[in-house]
Amino acid sequence: MTVEAANSAEYFKRAREALAGGISHENRYTEPHPIYVNRAQGSKKWDVEGKEYLDFSMGSASLLLGHSHPDVVAAVQQQMPLGSYYANCHPLEIEWAELVKGMYPSVERLRFTASGTESTMLALRLARAFTGKPKVIRFEQHYHGWHDYLMYGMVAPYDRSASCGIPDAMRELTIVSKPEADAVEGILKTNNDVAAIICEVSGPNWGSVPLVKEFLHSLRSLADKYGVVLIFDEVITGFRWSPGGMQQVVGIRPDLSTFAKILTGGLPGGAVGGREEIMRLLDPAFAFNGRKPGVTHKGTFNGCSIIAAGAVAAMKVVRTGEAQKHANEMASRIREGMKSTLEKHQIAGTAYGDASTFHVFFGKTDKDGGVGKLDPAQIRGLPKELVRGYQLGLRNRGVELMSYMGGVTSLAHTDKDVAFFLGAFEDTLRDLIRDGLVGRA
Ligand SMILES: Cc1ncc(COP(=O)(O)O)c(C=O)c1O
Repeated sequence: MTVEAANSAEYFKRAREALAGGISHENRYTEPHPIYVNRAQGSKKWDVEGKEYLDFSMGSASLLLGHSHPDVVAAVQQQMPLGSYYANCHPLEIEWAELVKGMYPSVERLRFTASGTESTMLALRLARAFTGKPKVIRFEQHYHGWHDYLMYGMVAPYDRSASCGIPDAMRELTIVSKPEADAVEGILKTNNDVAAIICEVSGPNWGSVPLVKEFLHSLRSLADKYGVVLIFDEVITGFRWSPGGMQQVVGIRPDLSTFAKILTGGLPGGAVGGREEIMRLLDPAFAFNGRKPGVTHKGTFNGCSIIAAGAVAAMKVVRTGEAQKHANEMASRIREGMKSTLEKHQIAGTAYGDASTFHVFFGKTDKDGGVGKLDPAQIRGLPKELVRGYQLGLRNRGVELMSYMGGVTSLAHTDKDVAFFLGAFEDTLRDLIRDGLVGRA
């Protein structure tokens, strides 16, 4: 059935009567209403009114290759008549896993899941089973999906669950730390019941709060010293920071890694990969603590054939590193252009970001002129009117961000897109100055 409504405002009115909150993901909620999109290609998408948007959301960062990359489209089209989903083992899932293994030396074995959330959930279960210990160290503000296990520590105040409906027992199982080696060691010294350390390796919220890379090395040493499973959440960074993710960039082998987004060529799904002796617990032929398999894991759509087809096609492009090189270059030019614009208008703030991401911060920067030494809550706590003014200013000019104050680039973005964005950024900045929402440097 086609939904008959002329524009996004009318769709939203109708959606509110059918969908909880009118939406399917709370980040899509915007006032006065979300935009309703019905087409996307390359770096662009179009709403139901035919308005074009330069897209820096790119499928919540899943589309490193851009919307509807021809190889992914062709692979999915070829697979569809052969069956979208068999509920059987099939050759494509092996090829997919082999491609991932080829890029990630730490991934000795892989298990597909249906999402990034499921991936971090399974990684925690594996770590708890492997060590026989219940607790997890996680870091302030880091996001690992929406399951109950990591809702403490996700948003400030960190001793409070990020959602209603989370049992108090989860607080007992979650140790929230600052991303500082001394703090983590202090916890490990006094708690001998820690199974895992999990970390969003870009820094929290896809790197909008930067993480000092040496910290990741400290985590590796501490995990080894105290016999704790080190989980790198590479849902964002995997295949984006490099074909081999952040772990390739920093040269660290985590015990387990979690993936989604680019892993599937922007289709639904995810995976956990890591050391064979941990992943072995998922093997139904291997007895562990009186159970076969030791760790149970099911999921109707894990590794399903239609997704595997698109994913294999995507992995073959991703592994060359060319897409990352191009996307990084686009984001770097955007960041430099934004910084020049801020300077030109003498506005306090900076543009920053790793790899193919770009963020803006308005306000007094740290002593290095960046945001690395600011408190995460300060970076993520910009006034609501400013965040809304920035997002809406860009949206009205035909630019869609990923979330908060940032976006991601892709293989599909061009020099022309960069120039268009920088024009929209400057015009939006003028609005923010006029409305007194940003301060002078
Ligand atoms: C770092 C990180 N981990 C886990 C997730 C959850 O993935 P999904 O939305 O596929 O459940 C996300 C989602 O954005 C993420 O950014």
